Amino acid sequence: MLTIKNVISSKIAESAAAAFPGSSVAASDIFTMLEYPPDAGKGDLALPCFKLSRTLRRPPVQIASALAGAFKAGEPGSPVASVEAVNGYLNFKISDDYLANRVLPEILEKREKYGAPQGYEGMTVVLDYSSPNVAKPFHIGHLGTTVIGHSLRRLFEFAGCKCISINHLGDWGTQFGKMIVAYRLWGSREEIEKKEIDGLVELYVKFHEEAEKDPGLEDMAREEFRKLEAGDPGNMALWRWFVEISLREYERTYKQLGIEFDSYTGESFYYDKTQPLIEDLKKKGLLKLDDGASIVDLEPYGMPPCLILKRDGSTIYSTRDIAAAIYRKEKYNFDRCIYVTSAGQSLHFRQWFKVVELMGYDWADRLVHIPYGTVSINGEKLATRTGNVILLKDLFALAIEKVKAIMDEKSPGIENREEVAEAVGVGAVVFYYLSSSRMRDINFVLEDALSFDGNTGPYVQYTYARTCSVLEKVGRIDDCNFVIGSPEESELLKVLCRFGECTEAALRDYEPFYVTRFILDLAAAFNRFYHNCRILNEEDPAKRTTRIRLTEAVNVVLGRAFGLICLKKTSKI
Ligand code: ARG
Repeated sequence: MLTIKNVISSKIAESAAAAFPGSSVAASDIFTMLEYPPDAGKGDLALPCFKLSRTLRRPPVQIASALAGAFKAGEPGSPVASVEAVNGYLNFKISDDYLANRVLPEILEKREKYGAPQGYEGMTVVLDYSSPNVAKPFHIGHLGTTVIGHSLRRLFEFAGCKCISINHLGDWGTQFGKMIVAYRLWGSREEIEKKEIDGLVELYVKFHEEAEKDPGLEDMAREEFRKLEAGDPGNMALWRWFVEISLREYERTYKQLGIEFDSYTGESFYYDKTQPLIEDLKKKGLLKLDDGASIVDLEPYGMPPCLILKRDGSTIYSTRDIAAAIYRKEKYNFDRCIYVTSAGQSLHFRQWFKVVELMGYDWADRLVHIPYGTVSINGEKLATRTGNVILLKDLFALAIEKVKAIMDEKSPGIENREEVAEAVGVGAVVFYYLSSSRMRDINFVLEDALSFDGNTGPYVQYTYARTCSVLEKVGRIDDCNFVIGSPEESELLKVLCRFGECTEAALRDYEPFYVTRFILDLAAAFNRFYHNCRILNEEDPAKRTTRIRLTEAVNVVLGRAFGLICLKKTSKI
C-alpha cells in the first residue's frame, strides 16, 4: 500500500539528492525517521533533521532549510500541502484535497482489504496458542495467550498468509496420574458429569491438599501415569473422558470470543513421536545421561540443560515440544511457527529451540516465542494449586452481568439483549487486556474495563454502533467530488490513512495492542467529527455526501480493526 508516509519519504530522499549532490539517503531510512508530532500545530508529519546530520555532515538547521527549499509541495495530486523548516525540523502539512480525493476513495474501494499489511503474502504461519492444561482451571492467566494468539492469527490472515492455529492442549503428563488417583479415591461419575471441569479442578486441588499429608499419593500418581503411558485401557478411558469434559468448557469460552482452532492436537498426540526423536538425538550424539535422566547439554550456550527423559524414562513437556515442531514442519512446511505463552516459559522455549538447531534443522530460526506479562485482578495474584483462581468463564460472566445492568438502565427494551451483552461484556475484558503492550503486567479493574466513558471496549463498540445508526438512516445519496469542510474531517482521514502502518507495525512487533491504540484514535476522531459536524442534515449536498461516505469508511475500518483483536461488532448497544 502506498501510504502518505511512503510517498513523503521518497520525496524527501529526492530532495536530499537535489539539495546535497553526491550524497545519498535511502527513502526507507527516512521512513523510520519520520514522526507524527503529538502537537498537530507542528505539522502532520515531522522529520527531525539531526538524524541526518551524520550522513549529510551538516547541522540540522541547515539540512532542514535546504530540504524545505528543494521539496516540491503543493503540486496537484501531492499529499503535501506545505512544508516548513523550524528549528532543525522539517514539518509537513497533509493536503485536504489528497485526503478527500485519494485516501477516502481508496478506502471505499478497497473496503475490508484496506490497510492490509504488506510483505507477508503467501507465507504459511503456524500459531500455537491458548493451549490450556486439561483438568486444571482455565483461568485469567490464559487470557493473554488466547487473545494475543488469535489476534496474531487474524493479522497474519489479513496480510494474506495461510494460517494454521493449533491448540496444543496440555493433555498428557503426570497430572493425569494425579487425576486418576484422585478420581478413584474421591470422585464419582455423576458428580463430574454435573460439575464438569469444576469437578475435575476440585479433585486436582484435593489431591494436592491430601498429598501434603500423605506423600505416598505422589507415588501412586506416578504409577498410574506410567500405566497410562503403557496404554492401560482403564486409565486410557478415564483420561479420554477428562479431556472431553475439559474441551466442553473451553469450546464455550472460545465461542464467546469468536475463536476457532484448526487443530486440537495436544501433547498426547506426540507421545508416539517422541521415541524416534530420542533415537535421533542419540544418533546425533546430543543425548547425555545426567544422574539417571537424559539431557541435552546447553552449557556452551549459557543455559541449563534441556531435560528430555526423566529418571523413570518418561518424556516431558520439552520432549513433546520438539517432536511437535518436527511434525509440524513436515505436515505444514511453515515459514514461521509461533508460540504464545507467558514470559515464565521463555527459557523453556530458548532451550528447546536450541536443541532443534543442534539437531541440524535449518528451520530452527523460524520458531518464534512470543511472551507476555502476568495478570492480576484488583491487585491479587493467581495461585493455581490452591484453587484460589479467577476462572476466565467467571470473569466473562461477571462482565456480561454488569453490562446487562448498565443496558437495562441506558437502553431498556433493546433487541438481542443477551447477544449484545455478551459481545460487549466479553469485548470489554478483551479490549482492556489488549490496551497495553504484551510484556506489561496487567492489573484488572473490572469497573474500569466496563466503563462506557473511558478508553474501553464498550466505548469503542458504542462508537461503532453510532456509525451504523447514521448509515441506517441514509436514503439515496448522489455521488460527487468529495470536499472537506472542517478540520474534524481532515483529522479523521489522517487517522484512517495510518491503518496500514499500524497493522504492519503490529505484525513486525507481534503487538496486537497497536491495533487497540489505533481503534481508540479512530473512535476519538470520529466522535469529534460526529459532535461538531452535521452529517445527515447538512444542507450542502457535496459536504453531506462526503460526510456520509466518511462515516461509511470509519464503519468499515473500525469493523475491520475490531476483527483483528477479537472484538465483536454490534450495530446497537
Ligand atoms: N499447556 C501449556 C501451559 O498451559 C502451554 C503450551 C504452549 N505450547 C507449547 N507448544 N508449549 O502452560
